[in-house]
Amino acid sequence: MRQLMDLGLDLVVESQAGTAAGYGNAAYAAAGASIVPELTAASLDVLLHVRPLEPETARELRPGTVTIGFASPGSELPGVDALAGAGVTSFALELVPRISRAQSTDALSSQALVSGYRAVLEAAVRYPRFFPLYMTAAGTIPPARVLVLGAGVAGLQAIGTAKRLGARVSANDIRAASAEEVASMGGTFIQLDLDAADGGGGYARELGKDRAIRQRALLAPHVGAADILITTAAIPGRAAPLLVTTDMVGAMRAGSVVVDLAAESGGNVEGVIAGQDLQIPVDGGSVTLVGLQDAASSMPSDASRLFAKNVANLLALMTTEGKVVPDFDDEVVAGACLTHGGAVRHAATAGALEALR
Ligand code: NAI
Repeated sequence: MRQLMDLGLDLVVESQAGTAAGYGNAAYAAAGASIVPELTAASLDVLLHVRPLEPETARELRPGTVTIGFASPGSELPGVDALAGAGVTSFALELVPRISRAQSTDALSSQALVSGYRAVLEAAVRYPRFFPLYMTAAGTIPPARVLVLGAGVAGLQAIGTAKRLGARVSANDIRAASAEEVASMGGTFIQLDLDAADGGGGYARELGKDRAIRQRALLAPHVGAADILITTAAIPGRAAPLLVTTDMVGAMRAGSVVVDLAAESGGNVEGVIAGQDLQIPVDGGSVTLVGLQDAASSMPSDASRLFAKNVANLLALMTTEGKVVPDFDDEVVAGACLTHGGAVRHAATAGALEALR
């Protein structure tokens, strides 16, 4: 907030906006913001938000208003349409380019970091055994074996967290750089006999049907040997890839825990339900399958802190002497822009909207 004040901006915060994250009105007032009972969208030059704006809110904004926040351009098409229709210059955090200079504005990364950490803690509290190795007078407890599938930002954080808890950690991903990244976090990379599948901008490419089947077959013995399985695999704009079938879960030992971070986008694990714990029967008991939902919101204070910094850094790129004027020659600003001047600037979203008409 102070960073935005230093940019010469006047700040207005809706009363109690930060309460759920542990930030009361007094903290915002102390940082120099005005607190209002309810925001009037039409009175704003810039609107910073967390979740995609409702179409009704977008329609209340004045032409030329700048918005920054998550916009879910792949799925919230009515909202995008409303932003374009209202002549709003909107920036979607999902579209921030993956280049070094944009890292401090990358909210997908900061929120994935929270999710990866949280996923391991959720597994640990459900797991009926220890994570670390214990050698005691009463006998030796072996360390838990943790397998992480999808070693992007969330997966790497999960690896680091599980290592810190004392588990033995292995991981797999289909991007070429991932073996080195997994090793840098102290994990053992599982090399499958499968070519790398890199897409653009640091993301993975979807595997074809045959290669996906082959990947599942190659992963099966590793899943069967794991006590804890954390899945985080994603392909931008697509449903999450299916990596683990019910049969594969059924081969895990009783008491094992599977946490699927991709549950909300279709799931990496067959049958997962977002927001629910399922018990999959296995010999001697069951395996707990957790459909982790909105993991970042379960640690709102730090998630908000990182998110706020990302948004402020992006806004700073467009602000000079108290005036917000996006410079579309800046590749971060241009890349993150979703709508401007009445049009949808992001080609894939524009195409999806066109297809609906
Ligand atoms: P993401 O959330 O789209 O996907 C998560 C992971 O799932 C990725 O590592 C992806 O390769 C993996 N995956 C997809 N299909 C898979 C399959 N069939 N099997 C196994 N794994 C599969 O990606 P995320 O985590 O947001 O970013 C991926 C990478 O992008 C990062 O690890 C990093 O190298 C790079 N990055 C670069 C940034 C920058 O330069 N500013 C910022 C953030 C990330």
